[in-house]
Amino acid sequence: MGNSSSPPDTSASQTWSQRFESALHPAIAQFNASIGFDITLLECDLTGSVAHAKMLAKVGILSDTECDQIVSGLETIRREYHEGKFNPGIDEEDVHFAVEHRLIELIGDGGKKLHTARSRNDQVGTDVRLYLRGQIEQIRQRIKDFQWAIFELAQQHVETLIPGYTHLQRAQPLSLAHHLLAYFEMTQRDWERLGDVLKRVNISPLGSGALAGTTFPIDRHYSAELLGFDDIYYNSLDGVSDRDFAIEFASAASIIMVHLSRLSEEIIFWASEEFRFVTLSDTCSTGSSIMPQKKNPDVPELVRGKTGRVFGHLQGLLVMMKGLPLAYNKDLQEDKEALFDTVATVSGCLEAMTILLQEGITFMPKRLNQAVDEDFSNATDVADYLANKGVPFREAYNLVGKVVKTSLAADKLLKDLTMAEWKELHPAFEEDIYAAIAPAQVVSARNSAGGTGFKQVRSALKRAESLLEA
Ligand code: ARG
Repeated sequence: MGNSSSPPDTSASQTWSQRFESALHPAIAQFNASIGFDITLLECDLTGSVAHAKMLAKVGILSDTECDQIVSGLETIRREYHEGKFNPGIDEEDVHFAVEHRLIELIGDGGKKLHTARSRNDQVGTDVRLYLRGQIEQIRQRIKDFQWAIFELAQQHVETLIPGYTHLQRAQPLSLAHHLLAYFEMTQRDWERLGDVLKRVNISPLGSGALAGTTFPIDRHYSAELLGFDDIYYNSLDGVSDRDFAIEFASAASIIMVHLSRLSEEIIFWASEEFRFVTLSDTCSTGSSIMPQKKNPDVPELVRGKTGRVFGHLQGLLVMMKGLPLAYNKDLQEDKEALFDTVATVSGCLEAMTILLQEGITFMPKRLNQAVDEDFSNATDVADYLANKGVPFREAYNLVGKVVKTSLAADKLLKDLTMAEWKELHPAFEEDIYAAIAPAQVVSARNSAGGTGFKQVRSALKRAESLLEA
């Protein structure tokens, strides 16, 4: 036990000042408590408290011995937690009280000094920021893993063709690598966006006190520096009230989910009998309990489905904040489950999609190359051909529209037209029209910057590789 003469009363009923005479109604205690979920913040809470204690020692509020005792008590709690021996119950209300009570149990009266010049309001703000900072770094790593998987798949499919769609109607053929690399670019923005969010997450509210600062001569820059924060909040009210960073994170997370959900949707229909562009491995798909022939794309379906709850958390946080007067209000306790679930969902979806790309999906090059050979997605190229021979584009466009119509009626594709038929349509057509409308040529010719031409795609791959290695 501690070093105090009489054992300290560390029960929750002793948490409040002498102003209180009776304990909380049990149902209200349950309703009020956050320990059931904010135990997730335990490590951050300990880290934050260690820095706070060291700062108190630096400015002379704690002696070095008192500080050492507190720090080693906090580290004991960390060890107990890792060993599964720290399991605070509902009577602790939240993780901050749970730690403080355990500290007092462990080191006695010395533990009662830790909360000097601090409030749970700046404490919880510090914890959430430390938590989010760590999680954002992990999610950014997961984005990089996802990008590697996209990159490696794209590398194998520069010259595999895939129909490109607008309005989900066949539009122009693409290099499959080009299609995949669109997701590389999208997630590159996600990675950058999270880096930007991090700048505002990594600001210290510690020392804002309950709302107004503190009478003690604290050094906020020192505790911020110990915790690796880039700066401090310069207004104590803002410091304890601000959850912009949480909303920004939920917003960046929602955009990541939009991207994963769109890829999911594409994979789902690519795997359908109607498309047959990909097959899914047994390791990443499931069967039906009744239809023995089924192989279901559960992974992308779940990712698409989970997108909704991440959007929900963003909405929840926005609504939670909009009517709050300054400064701390208990409403803010609701930020935690939203953030924890957002982190778990985004990380889980990124991981599952990365595995799906690495080993769960096989593109069918024969089927894909054949698909682009059976449609009118080379019609623009016929118009471009004529435009290159001096026919104004709009005129060429109208003429090719007519060709498509008559070909459809004759159940023919453009490549099936005879030279005589081409000539009849326009005297400018020559033998080289056949080469010009072959799918590989159609793709290769789109050599404008950022286009699907093979040369462009190869340099896009180089760009991707250098971003991955940076
Ligand atoms: N459990 C609280 C939360 O998560 C901690 C802060 C409590 N502050 C207060 N003034 N009641 O927000």
